Amino acid sequence: MIAAIVQARMGSSRLPGKTLMDLAGRPLLGHLVDRARRIPGLGAVVIATTDRPADRAILDFAAAEGLPVYAGSEDDVLDRFHQATRRFDVSVVVRVTPDCPLLDPAVAGLVLRRFLDAGGELDYACNTQPPTFPDGQDTEVFSAAALARAWREARLPSEREHVTPYIWKHPDRFRLANVRHGEDLSGLRWTVDEPADLAFVRAVYARLGGQGPFGMDDVLALLHREPALLEINRSPTRNEGYAKSLRADRAAGPGDPTMETTPRSLARSEDWFARAEKVIPSATQTFSKGHTQLVRGVAPLFLQRAEGSHVWDVDGNEYIDYPLALGPIVLGHNDPDVSAAVNAQLADGVAFSLPHPLEIEVSELLTDVIPCAEMVRFGKNGSDATAGAVRVARAYTGRERIAACGYHGWQDWYIGATTRNRGVPKAVRELTHLFSYNDLASLRKLFDAYPGEIAAVIMEPVGVVEPVGSFLQDVAALARANGAVLIYDEVVTSFRVALGGAQSHYGVAPDLACIGKAMANGFPVAAVVGRRDIMQVFDEIFFSFTFGGEALSLAAAKATITKIRKGEVIPHLWRQGKTLQDGYNALADEAGLRERTRCIGLPPRSVLTFTDRRGQESLAMKSLFQQEVVRRGILNTGGFNLCFRHSDADVERTLGACRAALGVLAEALTADDVEARLHGPVIQPVFRRA
Ligand SMILES: Cc1ncc(COP(=O)(O)O)c(C=O)c1O
Repeated sequence: MIAAIVQARMGSSRLPGKTLMDLAGRPLLGHLVDRARRIPGLGAVVIATTDRPADRAILDFAAAEGLPVYAGSEDDVLDRFHQATRRFDVSVVVRVTPDCPLLDPAVAGLVLRRFLDAGGELDYACNTQPPTFPDGQDTEVFSAAALARAWREARLPSEREHVTPYIWKHPDRFRLANVRHGEDLSGLRWTVDEPADLAFVRAVYARLGGQGPFGMDDVLALLHREPALLEINRSPTRNEGYAKSLRADRAAGPGDPTMETTPRSLARSEDWFARAEKVIPSATQTFSKGHTQLVRGVAPLFLQRAEGSHVWDVDGNEYIDYPLALGPIVLGHNDPDVSAAVNAQLADGVAFSLPHPLEIEVSELLTDVIPCAEMVRFGKNGSDATAGAVRVARAYTGRERIAACGYHGWQDWYIGATTRNRGVPKAVRELTHLFSYNDLASLRKLFDAYPGEIAAVIMEPVGVVEPVGSFLQDVAALARANGAVLIYDEVVTSFRVALGGAQSHYGVAPDLACIGKAMANGFPVAAVVGRRDIMQVFDEIFFSFTFGGEALSLAAAKATITKIRKGEVIPHLWRQGKTLQDGYNALADEAGLRERTRCIGLPPRSVLTFTDRRGQESLAMKSLFQQEVVRRGILNTGGFNLCFRHSDADVERTLGACRAALGVLAEALTADDVEARLHGPVIQPVFRRA
């Protein structure tokens, strides 16, 4: 049976006895019952009250109205609901409350319809997460099975007293949905908590009550005609009762201080994941986008749409985006200039059987803006560029060994030197030697060990840590003195740190540079650029593939580079990035976490560090931070990439979320229960520790 269960008691801290107070000749509860009875599809209205003597009056009311009634625990309202469903054989519960005497049965009916139309695919539907209807139209619908699970598992006082928080706080365990109103009306207060609220609904009934049943639209029209009515009960706080019991949670112990966040349904993410797992190893094409990179159960698994600095997941949840597709988005998603250029090119063609003029135009642009660039060859991913640069350096020098520092992509020559080296022949693995950043001696050691054998030194000119002293100049001199090609991997830094990349920022030009990521604002294109005499060796090696000159990405690159060249983009990234970085560090200080977390690196692309008491990287702390910000609408995988569309409001909201997340982290560290506060497993590194 589908039943509205109405929780009712005489106690109320702000308006004792309100449940049976008079409103136009009938008790508040009576109005709610009348309205609930008209919810389309409903089988019964059940009263759930307490067994306290004070609530005898409610039992009497129910008896007089011929309503089924259950009397149970005063504080454990979750138990009261659960027992009522069992007593009256209720399979679907519609939860409405007597403090909503303006409830529109059609609005409640919408929520019930949403639940029923899902055909068993939902556990819970509501119109309050987030609210868009007036406060006082609150309706929740859930299955008795979901209620029973919450009854078995919920522990916190707020979860027992308010029936549904355990359900909506666990999108990993329950399938949730929210019904929205087209216009956000959540600022309207039509609920009865205070004497002023009662005065407001009495004023409404005095004007509309005489005309028979009236609904939300009638009240809206009335308020339009008589806006002065709104002044009767202006109040800033929605759901004061729930806020109060959150305070009780804190008093009750460690609890869960994150409940202020809006719960997000992730049901569709989980559904897609179940399908992905069957057909895609690791369920992703890119490890850094995989399901182990964010806390499962609170973070989305799949994104569907993006605009500017915001993204939406497959369940429709919105986030401020900081991974920015792992760096490529520099102007913002769906940049109008890039989209126009790509659309125009789409009409002309995507791939051709002879080279396209765009190849020349973008090459000319790159030779104009990147200091070391005299000639250019295109690839698709950064790995194409680094593999091409390494091959051309080997051909140019006639040597085989490579000295590398940092990450350079998935190809054999590099990945063989990491812990993910399965499948790479030993002979290849032995040719790549790693050295450390800001440690010239570690590079010198390699040249000493393999004199005359090292073809190239490949490194990011800057990663997270900045070069100390003359490190970059010293590496360049050492490479040249030993006849090795100096390759800067600027896959990340190009078109982000400066128009000309980190080489122009630090004033040190390499022989070759690999660029990618941000150069086409999300379209797949990368390039090797560099000295003419070395680049000409591309004539002789094999660096050639079907999509090398694909025109949409080149059109996007041309539009992106042209826009960045106008001069506003990069300073914006630095400015917003600096505000975030300084703001984060100040918040960390404020939370007493100066030694435990920092935002470091260059502002256009900074990184968050989390360290345990012994100074070791703590993935558990990082997980808890990410969990808390993602619950507040911030997508963050360990740092801040900035784009031209990150606004002041985005930055402010992000810092607000960071403040809350750092507060949770500080509390967890004090209580020594970081992992216990996670709603899913600790995030995993892409590479095992060696
Ligand atoms: C510094 C650096 N080089 C190379 C690459 C490889 O680029 P891609 O993943 O586009 O092949 C990356 C990717 O993250 C990178 O960060």
